[in-house]
Amino acid sequence: MKTIAFNWKLNPQTEKQAEVLFEIYSDLAANSKNQVIVCPPFEYLFGLCRRQNHGNRYLGLGAQDCFWENLGPFTGEVSALNMKLAGIDYVILGHSERRIHLKETDEMVNRKLLNAITSELRPILCFGEDAAVHEKGEASVKKFIKKQVAAAIKGFESLPLSQKNNLIFAYEPVWAISGNSGNVADSPSDAGAVIRLMKDWLVSDFKLQSPRVLYGGSVNGKNVQAFLSQENIDGFLVGKASLVKDEVKKIIEETDRMN
Ligand code: PGA
Repeated sequence: MKTIAFNWKLNPQTEKQAEVLFEIYSDLAANSKNQVIVCPPFEYLFGLCRRQNHGNRYLGLGAQDCFWENLGPFTGEVSALNMKLAGIDYVILGHSERRIHLKETDEMVNRKLLNAITSELRPILCFGEDAAVHEKGEASVKKFIKKQVAAAIKGFESLPLSQKNNLIFAYEPVWAISGNSGNVADSPSDAGAVIRLMKDWLVSDFKLQSPRVLYGGSVNGKNVQAFLSQENIDGFLVGKASLVKDEVKKIIEETDRMN
């Protein structure tokens, strides 16, 4: 089974639009054999979660961030535990847009990850090199992403296996993300190769059982098929295309058709 997570980022503009979009996802997820997850911004997340608690549960719900504490004097932050209790199951962590715009460090991502996972959320941990590292070549890319992931999952060894297995990874080369100028999707074979390497490494060095690694970066209805032909890619983290009904439909349907 593939996992397809749709990251709405800071969209759409109105709650009504969010509800309409959400209904489309609910229908598509109910008919899909794969795991479909939608990650709306916080201002819609809890309202949509309440709607969903009365409706179908095929569609997974995720946040785009959480804090590293669940209670206390932390103005503006959001508790992982309260999200879980509300019925939200996933959280995207370490997204490059937060690393860039909010200066999130590996250490902050690590603290958030540990709190999310012990609060029984399923984190989708983003990692990936930027254009400067990418231009230096394969050896630099490998070195960078291993260091980034190792920092994010520090302290992970001592967690129970059931919690470790909840972690999902998402390889998102920063230069491939649609919001970044000059972006272009990674080549499916290159993305597949990086993901394979990371999986082998996570198994050998971190004793993870069978890590799930998604690909993210300009995935759309046109290129999804090529990525699906890479057996190491366990699914997608989709940004821009997640706001367009026909794109969402195509991505989910193609994934169903090929699996
Ligand atoms: P994109 O975004 O599909 O718009 O490139 C992916 C992401 O940022 O998660």
